[in-house]
Amino acid sequence: MKDKLSTENTHVLVVDDDPIAAETLQHALTEYGYPTTIANDGVEAIHHVRTGKFRIVISDIEMPRMNGIELCREIRERSLCDYTYLILLTGRCDTESVIEGLDAGADDYMSKPFSPSELRMRIRAGERLLLQESRELMIFALAKLADSRDNETGSHLERIREFCRALCGELSSWEDYKEVIDGIYIQSIYESSPLHDIGKVGIPDRILLKPGKLTDDEFAIMSMHSQIGADTLQSVVDAHPEATVLKMAYQIALTHHERWDGTGYPRGLSGEQIPLCGRIVAVADVYDALTSERVYKKAFSHEKAVQIIREGAGTHFDPDIVKAFLRLEDFFRKIKTDFNESAERKDAEFLPRFKRNLEIVSSLQTL
Ligand SMILES: [Fe+2]
Ligand SMILES: [Fe+2]
Repeated sequence: MKDKLSTENTHVLVVDDDPIAAETLQHALTEYGYPTTIANDGVEAIHHVRTGKFRIVISDIEMPRMNGIELCREIRERSLCDYTYLILLTGRCDTESVIEGLDAGADDYMSKPFSPSELRMRIRAGERLLLQESRELMIFALAKLADSRDNETGSHLERIREFCRALCGELSSWEDYKEVIDGIYIQSIYESSPLHDIGKVGIPDRILLKPGKLTDDEFAIMSMHSQIGADTLQSVVDAHPEATVLKMAYQIALTHHERWDGTGYPRGLSGEQIPLCGRIVAVADVYDALTSERVYKKAFSHEKAVQIIREGAGTHFDPDIVKAFLRLEDFFRKIKTDFNESAERKDAEFLPRFKRNLEIVSSLQTL
């Protein structure tokens, strides 16, 4: 029977200048069903890692040209592809070497001679971590799909999560927030904030894509996206109460249009009745909307957006979040610029393909 986690899709890169050691390792890995490739040193390994095919790298330390420590550093510093799980397998097993390896970015450290079954278990630990990353990517892909209907260009969601993470990072050093905002909170908001508008999938095109101002009735329908998104996420949370990221996604979807003074929607919550994550996303989302061009409006300058948010402290927004935002103002400007540029590059490749797919789907619907 096939091992559920150890799929044939987990390609392993073995890096060792000793051909016998490399082949022994390759043999053990092949026995367990892992397709394996050998690189003779760090330089050759980098070349393989760049292809994006290898998510697990097992490397020796002592090698000519680029050693295992330098290899780990190079992979981490350059983020050459999606997360790569790095295991150092070496004859050097003193504490100092272990610390040096982990400090360089290795995830795990094993000494030679190795036990094949121990190595297999360590690879499985790596696969669990990579599986977690795949889940995060899947959540983000769903958010992107929902967002693509009215925002097919730009990197709104990528920016939102960066803004939220930065606001949380700032707040976490404040006395009043340091108990609440820890590493898990920050990671959760990073993953869940892109789902804030997922409920827009339930809004008809004639309203969602209307180029002009919405009538009162249309606005009432548009406002339902908060509740639709929350209801959808609630059903998943009910089935998986342990999924903290989705619980936060539910709160954000429901409350990101509430206002500090109680004049927002859907429930007219005010002040701290609004969950903190909803108050944070409100600032991030409004800043990004103001500085982005829409069919019905031009983009405001960064300065104008800052002024509007500053003036909204205590009415639209939580004054503390606005204070944090003002401290991070330059970071917001930078993210806006950086992501705009990379989005333009990606859109140049992605949009023609996206539009062609849409045409195919709509021609199928008319059959
Ligand atoms: Fe929204
Ligand atoms: Fe948004």
